[in-house]
Amino acid sequence: MTTPPVIQPLPVHVAIIMDGNGRWAKERHQPRLFGHRAGVESVRVIVEAAREIGIRHLTLYAFSTENWQRPGLEVKGLMALLKTFLLAELETMKKNGIRLDCFGQKERLPDEVRAVLERVIAETANAPGMRLNLALSYGSRAEMLRAVREVSRRCAAGELAPEAIDEELFSNQLYSAGQPDPDLLIRTSGEQRLSNFLLWQLSYAELYFTETRWPDFRRAQFFEALQVFANRQRRFGKTGEQV
Ligand code: IPE
Ligand code: IPE
Ligand code: MG
Repeated sequence: MTTPPVIQPLPVHVAIIMDGNGRWAKERHQPRLFGHRAGVESVRVIVEAAREIGIRHLTLYAFSTENWQRPGLEVKGLMALLKTFLLAELETMKKNGIRLDCFGQKERLPDEVRAVLERVIAETANAPGMRLNLALSYGSRAEMLRAVREVSRRCAAGELAPEAIDEELFSNQLYSAGQPDPDLLIRTSGEQRLSNFLLWQLSYAELYFTETRWPDFRRAQFFEALQVFANRQRRFGKTGEQV
């Protein structure tokens, strides 16, 4: 494997909407799950590439709250792939110091998937390296409502004054608590929308859209996205001269 290129500055946190598995399969006259299987290989490759180049946080949108509406067989196939992936990657994650977390409604996942997920999360909880967040049964609006409910509960219980609610306090009620906001959002396969992904956390992210389908998104395509990011000027409301 080639050493990664030198890219400066690197995003600290990269979030990816891994889209296009179904179309990739269709273009090959194959069932959608064939595309999801190829997509898992891209996940492996990108996790490795991100770690090698020095990304500190990687968040992958793997299954949305809306994706439960897909045909039962596809949902079942995706859950089976997820379980296989976690079991197959556990040792590699441990070896490479990767710490896994789940953003989303873990309780809605099938029992045997949740059990494996909890096990990998527990066994990598002290890993010092890259944080890998899998967004599973994730929806940003549901995430924010959950945070609002918790904050309201604390206010109603008299533990918290409404005036004390600031951005940091709210952020700390989200699945991403303690992690920085994504600097770069990548979405593959041509769609230019957020699909209920990290609406709060992406406030100032750079957006990168590519036509490449997720199963074709590998090292070179990832490094290209990072290079485009490096060439952007982030101004955060200031003038170009100020930054
Ligand atoms: C992304 O690929 C994977 C998931 C949403 C689980 P899609 O399955 O959405 O692929 P397209 O968009 O139908 O091509
Ligand atoms: C977004 O992709 C969710 C994931 C990548 C897991 P979708 O393919 O479900 O998004 P829409 O429905 O086209 O917006
Ligand atoms: Mg899609």
